[in-house]
Amino acid sequence: MMHNTIIGFGSIFHKQAIDGIENTSNAHFLGAHELFYAGRYAIKYVIHGILEHQHINAIWIPNYYCPFVKNWLEQEFESITYYDIDPFDATSKIDWSLFTANDIVIANNYWGLKEHQIPNGERPIVIEDHSHGWLSKGCMDSQADFCIASLRKTLPIPLGGIAWKPVKSKCSIPLKPLEKNNIAIETNPMLQSWALIDSAMETKATCNKEEEKSVFLQQYSQGEVLLRNTQEIVPLLAEHETVIRNALFKDFNAYKKTHLAYILQAIHPSQAFKIINEESKTPFGLLLAFKERELFKDFKQFLITHMIYPAELWPQNNIAQDYKFLVNIHIDFRYNTKDLEFMADTINRWTLQRSSLQIE
Ligand SMILES: Cc1ncc(COP(=O)(O)O)c(C=O)c1O
Repeated sequence: MMHNTIIGFGSIFHKQAIDGIENTSNAHFLGAHELFYAGRYAIKYVIHGILEHQHINAIWIPNYYCPFVKNWLEQEFESITYYDIDPFDATSKIDWSLFTANDIVIANNYWGLKEHQIPNGERPIVIEDHSHGWLSKGCMDSQADFCIASLRKTLPIPLGGIAWKPVKSKCSIPLKPLEKNNIAIETNPMLQSWALIDSAMETKATCNKEEEKSVFLQQYSQGEVLLRNTQEIVPLLAEHETVIRNALFKDFNAYKKTHLAYILQAIHPSQAFKIINEESKTPFGLLLAFKERELFKDFKQFLITHMIYPAELWPQNNIAQDYKFLVNIHIDFRYNTKDLEFMADTINRWTLQRSSLQIE
């Protein structure tokens, strides 16, 4: 892609035609479902739906979770409590003995590599979050009571979230249909947020000057702030729903799978990081976990200097694992072999420089 020399690699999606991307053949996992402007509204909707049917003592969230969403949920619900699970080991299990049958547990499908086993007998209500694993195996085989996902992390759309009951759910509480009440067009924060992020994606797609980068980054972050400050669930405008549905079952993971295979054979082993992956699964991106905060910061800065803009997941984490500083390098459908070669080469150059520094 020519204008990669300006926009670099990673960060927010730019507008791109996706008509040529095939749909997955495996959409049968989705039972009743509702679309939202973002993943957090899907979580809120599911929890309120449960509360209409059952008294709940505590809502359990993993300690290692998106900090903005933690804050947002704490504003919405009083009874949030946290539990620990190793996010970097796909085989780590939730300790179900922590919970009662009157609790709700949010179980995160970390990086699309996890498949949670839901226990039999007395157990809490389980909501799985597949934001980093939309259409992953764990998502499609889910036996949870309810599932949610933030869609805008995987699909190149301004905003989007989904709540559903998996076909394998045994829960008797329904996912009730969302009321499509009228929304005030001019003042509505979701429509403003959509417009801002849509414009950011458009600006990024057409950008050919360095100065324009700050424009799309600012538009994007203004759109994000509107989400942070909006608790109300706003039903989707029909035209926005069309945009989301058009992308919903596109097989974006097929690209990640081949891109990861390519990049894994191209990057040199490093003592500084370990690669988070799982045989026969497709992770969210190229995930590198660091032990040392300083090395991690140095690596991230090196990538940024070379126009690779990785995501840090999540900056304010405080967990017991050794390798807990995680970057996600985007290797999605936007990129081709040449781009991946550049990314691998840049990572290798850092590894080489670090090892020569350590020898000195
Ligand atoms: C794991 C996870 N779940 C849910 C969300 C919420 O999604 P949204 O930002 O679309 O509300 C996020 C991120 O924001 C997330 O990282």
